[in-house]
Amino acid sequence: MRSDALVLLICDPSVVYKMKNIECTTVPGYSANASCYLKALNWNKAVAQMDVDLVKPLYNISVRIQLFKRDYSNKFQPFLIDVTVNVCDLFSRRSFMAYGLIVLKVTKRFSNFNHSCPYDGHLFARDAYLDESFIPNFWPLGLYKINISIMENYLRPPNGNVGVIVWYVQSMEPIKRKKN
Ligand SMILES: *[C@@H]1O[C@H](CO)[C@@H](O)[C@H](O)[C@H]1NC(C)=O
Ligand SMILES: *[C@@H]1O[C@H](CO)[C@@H](O)[C@H](O)[C@H]1NC(C)=O
Ligand SMILES: *[C@@H]1O[C@H](CO)[C@@H](O)[C@H](O)[C@H]1NC(C)=O
Ligand SMILES: *[C@@H]1O[C@H](CO)[C@@H](O)[C@H](O)[C@H]1NC(C)=O
Repeated sequence: MRSDALVLLICDPSVVYKMKNIECTTVPGYSANASCYLKALNWNKAVAQMDVDLVKPLYNISVRIQLFKRDYSNKFQPFLIDVTVNVCDLFSRRSFMAYGLIVLKVTKRFSNFNHSCPYDGHLFARDAYLDESFIPNFWPLGLYKINISIMENYLRPPNGNVGVIVWYVQSMEPIKRKKN
């Protein structure tokens, strides 16, 4: 075997996570003007464009990330991840949780959600996707729903749900173009 062929074989991802759908929900008094959509790049990859305006500054943001996997009866069941991460601690580097670091990597790379608190005004993400290298363990093949709830002052009243982002992601074997 030629060595370049070997390298290709090793680098070829066995599983890709393709975004299938995205939904954004705003909460009156906290967020407005949400726009979320996907752009398909090829058979294996779609990227998300997200925009939202904050109605007032947020000083103590937490994000709850829940993962669901679709079962054989087409219902989404909780799967593996249900974590709440304080984003303000994260960006001021007080927190080093594994899933917190994933959130940090994804948001830093794709959005203007990449500085210390508070947050105000227009937030956006461009060309966002779930990079396989962000995920510590492979998710079995199937359809997943990622529910990202954004909260202000979680655990300490007055608290508020600021908005919800839902991503649908297909864990699948990459579709390869056949030669000839
Ligand atoms: C939402 O968009 C409208 C129209 O562009 C703008 O007037 C309004 O200020 C925006 N809302 C917020 C909270 O920024
Ligand atoms: C944050 O995101 C904005 C917009 O993408 C970018 O211009 C800026 O350089 C980023 N800042 C950091 C610290 O990564
Ligand atoms: C997402 O999670 C929040 C908080 O647990 C819940 O209120 C909401 O209904 C969920 N949204 C979806 C679409 O599952
Ligand atoms: C910020 O939120 C955290 C929970 O994520 C809470 O423990 C803390 O008391 C809050 N801080 C303030 C100043 O409200």
